[in-house]
Amino acid sequence: MKICVVGSGYVGLVASIGFCELGHQVVCVDNDQAKLQKLMRGVAPIHEEWVPELLEKHSGIRLTFSSNLAASAKSSEAIFIAVGTPSSRDGDADLSYVEAVARELAGAIGRRSDRAHYKVIVEKSTVPVYTNEWIRRVLLLNGASADNFDVVSNPEFLREGTAVVDFLYPDRIVVGADSDRAAAVMASIYAPLTAGEYYRGEEAIPGPINLEKARLILTSTKSAELIKHASNAFLATKISFINAVANICEAVGANIEEVAEGIGADSRIGSRFLNPGIGYGGSCFPKDLRAFTAVAKAVGYDFRLLEEVEAINEEQRKRFLKKVRSVLWTLKGKRIAVLGLAFKGGTDDIRESPALPIVAELLRENCTISAYDPAAMERAKEVFPEACIEFTETAYQAIENADALLILTEWEEFGSLDLTRVKSLLRYPIVVDGRNMLDAESAATHGLTYISIGRPVVHAKEQSAAPMRETGIRAAATTAGGRL
Ligand code: UGA
Repeated sequence: MKICVVGSGYVGLVASIGFCELGHQVVCVDNDQAKLQKLMRGVAPIHEEWVPELLEKHSGIRLTFSSNLAASAKSSEAIFIAVGTPSSRDGDADLSYVEAVARELAGAIGRRSDRAHYKVIVEKSTVPVYTNEWIRRVLLLNGASADNFDVVSNPEFLREGTAVVDFLYPDRIVVGADSDRAAAVMASIYAPLTAGEYYRGEEAIPGPINLEKARLILTSTKSAELIKHASNAFLATKISFINAVANICEAVGANIEEVAEGIGADSRIGSRFLNPGIGYGGSCFPKDLRAFTAVAKAVGYDFRLLEEVEAINEEQRKRFLKKVRSVLWTLKGKRIAVLGLAFKGGTDDIRESPALPIVAELLRENCTISAYDPAAMERAKEVFPEACIEFTETAYQAIENADALLILTEWEEFGSLDLTRVKSLLRYPIVVDGRNMLDAESAATHGLTYISIGRPVVHAKEQSAAPMRETGIRAAATTAGGRL
């Protein structure tokens, strides 16, 4: 099938190469010329597994790039809208990019009834309920014949860091369509996944699960729109819930890992997304939670639960900073090593990363920061000028001579740090881990005072003669377990 994808951001680009993998002919449209030029040269604008390989595999064969929306849409049977829907000042989704695309698409759809050139317009961006109706209205107001198109909702559930695999090995494909013809077009686009043909092919990229056939869930357009917002809101709720429970664990001396294992073993709850930390970030959860709360308000429902989820998330960063303060006694003039700036491991994305406000606060309190992130440092340099932070080439360089080490992103490599080396490099053997990456016992046997989330504070097992200042720090660390 000939497919046009509007927007070459995370969702648009991954969907484009994903559809090529399924055998479709794709034109990916963007109005950012510089980005298009890079894509045409095969340069991936995002740090994402499989994107460079699949760009190389399909570019110029099944995949082309264009800045001409009208022409690209005209020659396509399905047009996926995957442009940004940022938060407006009131928290609701700013749909101006979606509207601009819909206006331009009207011309490509045509004024005269022509059912032979029928097109399906697909909203793939995360949008509030009723957007589908608005897109339809905008198309009609701009002269598109109602016979020539349908608007469907096909939300995307991919995660950054595993985007391509998530797209090709989905838990479910949701299609919200109010017409049989549109539903049939969508079903045929995804047929290689729902019939399992893709997974049996020799060229399929390896998936995390042995999937025989992907599941297609067909709903009304409004239900599909709600499924996307409700899914993200539920996942964010799960994270805030476990963070709240972690705080109780700290107060009573229980261990959140044991508690999460016990909770997650109930198949009705499930063990995923029960990792406590410094809170969720990224371009989706914070924005979508605000948008869903605004949608609820607009239809007369006060979704206070989501407001609380957001409040717990904010609080989590403050609690982390409090731990750093308690263990270091005073912050002014301290050198702090920060490992991790991205909003989560596996990505260079720092949007709404909880690491950023933590670093900003430490700088405000006159700490010196040496930071390392395997992928996000270039982006972080745009936020924090290099004069404020020393960005290092390795984790160990950041740690050298630091008064404490903070782990702020769940990069796998931070879980396998050489703790003997860490201990020898740190000025004070203190690690405050916002992502529970280290084994607490092992940290202690390597001579580290280790403070994490929802687990008892552990103290260095082999201790050297403590200078005055360190004694103070140890005393603070001891009380941290009870107070935080
Ligand atoms: C999220 C959803 O997981 C995707 O299903 C959805 O498609 C996407 O938003 C979107 O709407 O586009 P993503 O933002 O890439 O994906 O990242 P997640 O893996 O969900 O992580 C979000 C945040 O929650 C990160 O800051 C992560 O560190 C945090 N997190 C995640 C936790 O603190 N604990 C957990 O157990 C899991």
